[in-house]
Amino acid sequence: MPKIAIVYFSATGHTQQVAEAIAEGVQSVAGTEVSLHRIVGEDIHNGRWSNDSIVAALDGADAIVFGTPTYMGGYAGQFKAFIDACGGIWYQQGWKDKVGAGFTHSQGLSGDKLNTLTGLSINAMQHGMIWVGTATMSEGATPEKTNRLSSYTGAMAQSNMDQQTIGSGDHQTAIILGKRVAEVATRWNK
Ligand SMILES: Cc1cc2nc3c(=O)[nH]c(=O)nc-3n(C[C@H](O)[C@H](O)[C@H](O)COP(=O)(O)O)c2cc1C
Repeated sequence: MPKIAIVYFSATGHTQQVAEAIAEGVQSVAGTEVSLHRIVGEDIHNGRWSNDSIVAALDGADAIVFGTPTYMGGYAGQFKAFIDACGGIWYQQGWKDKVGAGFTHSQGLSGDKLNTLTGLSINAMQHGMIWVGTATMSEGATPEKTNRLSSYTGAMAQSNMDQQTIGSGDHQTAIILGKRVAEVATRWNK
């Protein structure tokens, strides 16, 4: 049974909604198991992130989906602290051949989200992971459309400052990515 772990940082809950939609997509594939892991600032001391139970869950997963809000055109600092803390795993190539994917949320329509997804994919490549993109065409640019931000490297979501809930199109795009990761992990495990 392929295990899919979703690891993310979210300050005000939007990126968490994307993470939960990805989990929904994973659960639509029979025989897969999903877990959600939130990176929190309380696990960062003197700039170093540490949480043994999250690392153990990621080590035991067949696929890891990485998610962070876009801050200043890249990772949120809290997520970068997590990424850097996993450098020892990289040295051992402990995540080699796991399936990887990524997502980001930001306020700007562009907001330079692609840079964040590029960073997530490069991190996965350094780990020797198999990167999976959205592989879904953009239905159009309005909020209810699937992949309305035309992102193929990973799932993008965008909300305005006064918007509590992510839009239906972004929600659906995240479900599609979760389903695809679960399907790829299932095939890769055979
Ligand atoms: C320090 C900081 C930097 C930000 N930089 C960007 C940015 O470069 N582009 C953008 O579109 N939004 C930017 N934002 C808005 C965040 O992307 C938005 O608050 C975040 O996606 C909300 O996600 P969350 O609810 O999961 O925390 C920034 C927000 C903060 C706090």
